[in-house]
Amino acid sequence: MIAVQAVLSTAEAGAIRDAAARLDWADGRATAGRVAREVKANAQAAPSPARDAILDKVRGAVLGHPVLRAAARPRHLTPLILSRYRVGQTYGLHVDDAIMGGIRTDLSFTLFLSEPEAYEGGALVIEDDYAPREVRLAAGDLVLYPSTTLHRVAPVTRGERLAAVGWIESWVREGDRREVLWDLDQAIATVEGEAALRPVRDRLLKARSNLLRLWAGG
Ligand code: NI
Repeated sequence: MIAVQAVLSTAEAGAIRDAAARLDWADGRATAGRVAREVKANAQAAPSPARDAILDKVRGAVLGHPVLRAAARPRHLTPLILSRYRVGQTYGLHVDDAIMGGIRTDLSFTLFLSEPEAYEGGALVIEDDYAPREVRLAAGDLVLYPSTTLHRVAPVTRGERLAAVGWIESWVREGDRREVLWDLDQAIATVEGEAALRPVRDRLLKARSNLLRLWAGG
């Protein structure tokens, strides 16, 4: 689980909120799996050219972000959903579908579009083996977490919570392998630019490439 800051700027997130206010909204249960439908009570933007323009912008920002690329190694991205929670709305504990439209969901993400001061409640709560973790980020920030987890969105008790959500199929299915590649990225970045360490960098680059070849497509 990782928080990725400034996938969108504050101004970009604000522009999306303004544009979203003019969209048509539909019942969020339309895109939930059979079991999740029973606990889902939110709204999502109905299809329209204006909605697609928003989601295309978010998609480009997510796929273009270097930290997200390094953490997720994205191979495919599902169509994104623009979701809105108003007072009393919530998404109870559920697990995301394993396959969506032919794409295996390895990682889930929520890109927060509302500033945290603009609403109360509405935390994304991710259950892990120790204790639930509550995530509420600044507008434009994203949380990436394993799709294997049980998670929920706490009820909103004031204001409005707008977010874009989506799912990633990674080139590297296993999280522990992605972590090895991530560590190599960090090591390469550390020695980059040090002339004396060039042989070290080249060995690290070779190791990263060859591990990716071994693991890609899993
Ligand atoms: Ni979910």
